[in-house]
Amino acid sequence: MFKVAILTGGGDCPGLNAVIRAVVRRAEFHAFEVMGIRDGWKGLLETEGRTQRLTLESVADILHVGGTILGTSRTNPFKRHNGAEKLLENVAELGIGAIVAVGGEDTLGVAHRLHELGAKVVGVPKTIDNDLSGTDFTFGFDTAVSIATEAIDRIHTTAESHQRVMVVEVMGRHAGWISTYAGLAGGADVILIPEVPVHLDRVCEHLQHRRLMGKSFSIVVVAEGARLASGELPKKSARLGDEFEHERLGGIGQLIAEEVEKRTGFETRVTVLGHIQRGGTPTAHDRVLATRFGVFACDLVAQGHFGKMAALRGAEIVAVPLAEAVSKLKTVDPALYELAKGFFG
Ligand code: F6P
Repeated sequence: MFKVAILTGGGDCPGLNAVIRAVVRRAEFHAFEVMGIRDGWKGLLETEGRTQRLTLESVADILHVGGTILGTSRTNPFKRHNGAEKLLENVAELGIGAIVAVGGEDTLGVAHRLHELGAKVVGVPKTIDNDLSGTDFTFGFDTAVSIATEAIDRIHTTAESHQRVMVVEVMGRHAGWISTYAGLAGGADVILIPEVPVHLDRVCEHLQHRRLMGKSFSIVVVAEGARLASGELPKKSARLGDEFEHERLGGIGQLIAEEVEKRTGFETRVTVLGHIQRGGTPTAHDRVLATRFGVFACDLVAQGHFGKMAALRGAEIVAVPLAEAVSKLKTVDPALYELAKGFFG
């Protein structure tokens, strides 16, 4: 029986289990055997105890469950001595005919390089940050935006009661998609994103203007990857990088809140949503998108179309080259950000 391996890599994301389930269900149709690989690419480097046969039973009742039944890691085989060679040897030894890699820029970057080395890989685009090229949306993003929007709604009422400035820090390492969407949906008065350096004087002027206009409170939504135009960094910036050389983010919300309070005299509080955005049950939208991606990825394997990623273009699921998906990050459309700015204040 042709053996398809599936792994989930990088930060987890609501909808991963929906993809795993969809691949296993579709594999039945194609008469493939599915092998689950634990802990992302690590599971193909250190295989001991990290492989398991996935059956219809093992993927029952996981559609609505957050996280990933396969576990995940930020392992980069290309950072390990002879890592890629070892991984390919293990793939051959395990009798794996094709790999479905579910991940973002890092995991799919590895998938692309392995494909160039001859591995039969297809990709499924995952990330709450929605910053992967080649696809209009990744699954997980809708859930994260829904959670962040609900949080902003809740913060709205307490901001109003206390007449405070409330800074809400959301995820978004390189791109401010969550910040822009949740900020728009939640009626934020200022939205700050990594793509546009933050001028604190302008933010403060804007908040002061709102006060003058009789608005007693304000909500500022900031992506964790946003940076001040002055170059000042959040205090906790000495953090270890991972195997993809990403530093651990966090602290920009606190820095902005402190500066706003100091410069305007407005009482200011900060809320960091953090991993709440990544955990828990996926929205119906993400379950459907993840399911469509999983089925399509399995079909790509059946057709022998490797080096491709399932992608959403408009309403259609299409195949795009992994090379295109990982070539550059998909940052926020400037026109959308301009539109959002029209609602500031
Ligand atoms: O890649 C998605 C993401 O949510 C980023 O926005 C964030 O910087 C990162 O994951 C944090 O992940 P972790 O805390 O798991 O390293």
